[in-house]
Amino acid sequence: MNSGEVKQRLSELLTQKRVEHSKRVAECAVKLAKIYNCDEKKAYIAGMVHDAAKCLNLEQVYEYVDKYEIYLDPIEDGNRALSHSVVGASIVRYEFGIEDEDIINSVKYHTTGRAEMSLLEKIIYLADLLEDGRVIPHIEELRELAYSGQLDKAMIESFNQTLTFVIANDNLIHPRSVEARNYLLREIDK
Ligand SMILES: [Fe+2]
Ligand SMILES: [Fe+2]
Repeated sequence: MNSGEVKQRLSELLTQKRVEHSKRVAECAVKLAKIYNCDEKKAYIAGMVHDAAKCLNLEQVYEYVDKYEIYLDPIEDGNRALSHSVVGASIVRYEFGIEDEDIINSVKYHTTGRAEMSLLEKIIYLADLLEDGRVIPHIEELRELAYSGQLDKAMIESFNQTLTFVIANDNLIHPRSVEARNYLLREIDK
């Protein structure tokens, strides 16, 4: 698919509101890519497609799971807030024809993160939170860190906030988020 076709398909898969969010994530990702010397084109594409599976209902999720033999772990299974990133990665690969593994992984890990995230994965993870339309507590502190060259500190701070929120709401913690945070804490300590 060329970029026009990807945009067309996204407008079929997503609500208008979600398309607008995706555009803002793409723009924020480019801004971060400039700061951290990452490929701006990849950042834009990954930002645009990161939520490709966000508007699927549970029935559609399982259609994709069957079709592309997607493995959802017990925490992702039945949880659309988590599974949309894993399912989205397969949509991006098989339906949009995107072959770049870094872009695919940026989609796959944009909700939980993981240990040893690539630069692009971190940028998409943060751009999803920092895009201009977001209203979340302490966002200015996060923006300040992310836009002042402190990428890993911004990541740790965002995991701290997300995990605190998950605990406060009695939700399950995905181990990948814990691994991501532990990894970054050790890295920053070096
Ligand atoms: Fe998402
Ligand atoms: Fe998103």
